[in-house]
Amino acid sequence: MVIMEYTNPRIVEVAGVLKARLQALENKADILKAVELKALYAEIPTLQPEERGGFGKEINALRQELESLVAAHQEQVAALPPIDVTAPFDINVPADKRPQLLPSQQGSVHPLMREREIMLDIFYRMGFTAVESRELDDDYHMFTALNFPDGHPARDDYDTFMTEETDANGNRLIAPAHTSTMQNRVMQKYKADLENGKPIAVLVPDRVFRNEDLDARHEHTFYQFEGIYVDKGVNAGHLMATLKTFLEEYYGKSLEVKSQPFYFPFTEPSFEFALSCPFCEKKGCHICSQSGWIELLGCGMIHPNVLKMAGIDPQIYTGFAWGGGIDRLVMMKYGIEDVRHFQSAKLDFLRQFS
Ligand code: DAH
Repeated sequence: MVIMEYTNPRIVEVAGVLKARLQALENKADILKAVELKALYAEIPTLQPEERGGFGKEINALRQELESLVAAHQEQVAALPPIDVTAPFDINVPADKRPQLLPSQQGSVHPLMREREIMLDIFYRMGFTAVESRELDDDYHMFTALNFPDGHPARDDYDTFMTEETDANGNRLIAPAHTSTMQNRVMQKYKADLENGKPIAVLVPDRVFRNEDLDARHEHTFYQFEGIYVDKGVNAGHLMATLKTFLEEYYGKSLEVKSQPFYFPFTEPSFEFALSCPFCEKKGCHICSQSGWIELLGCGMIHPNVLKMAGIDPQIYTGFAWGGGIDRLVMMKYGIEDVRHFQSAKLDFLRQFS
């Protein structure tokens, strides 16, 4: 490798900047396209004729040095032994023979997991309990228990991934397309509390899957947070206030909220819930498509049939529920423009949040 000593102060300065940047670059070869390097060439004609030759030579030397650093990095990567990811981990192997893991100080919590903790903390303080969802569920919980009749066209609104395996009823198992699959289980689990005068207040913040065309706003795997609240005398005002309180706490500012009628088989009435853009405060920006409002999630009053199927008497109890994307909330908080960054495993992206 050529390590150069430069004499011209401009070259010394640019060499320092570019070498520091090289360290952080994921694609090392990008350094050869740096604008600073091009700018040096453009400076040649502005110099005294006798200085031009020496300056030009040093620029070329700098370019060569950068090329050799890029090549050295590529060799180093190629020399890494391939890891057999299928090999079982043998705890009896001496420590120096075990696969070397990334040192913990170089790791960081994934931004979605960190933000999920923050959201959970807010809901805990509001009296909610968290329940996990599943990564594989059945037709009953995905549709039937949510009041989608057999063959109902709304079943097609959810682009579900199905397995070839089937459940006891011969229906294929489903990678859940929403966290609402947990509604029936949550209500069954906590309905005894209701009879003792304690409301059901549960949050399901978990992973969901959809067979979507991928783009900056759509991922096949993402996170939703589902809220379920049941008690005597619960109404849509409570729903709005709960979501507003949560969002104001999460974004750390006052927000306006509004709703408009929508349709979900499992709520009646159903709403689409919108909040004033936390990014521009309703002035209009690229996050809210200049409208000042963000249509955030679906919600409504839990349909009496859904309560009944969970063994709760809709004559006595009412409840509200909502389901929305965690990824969306986090993208808005930090101005992240592409949802695919989250699953990309790009350290450059992930380390910004550590
Ligand atoms: N599950 C719906 C979806 O993913 C969102 C939703 C709407 C959840 C209304 C709810 C609800 O709990 O009441 O599109």
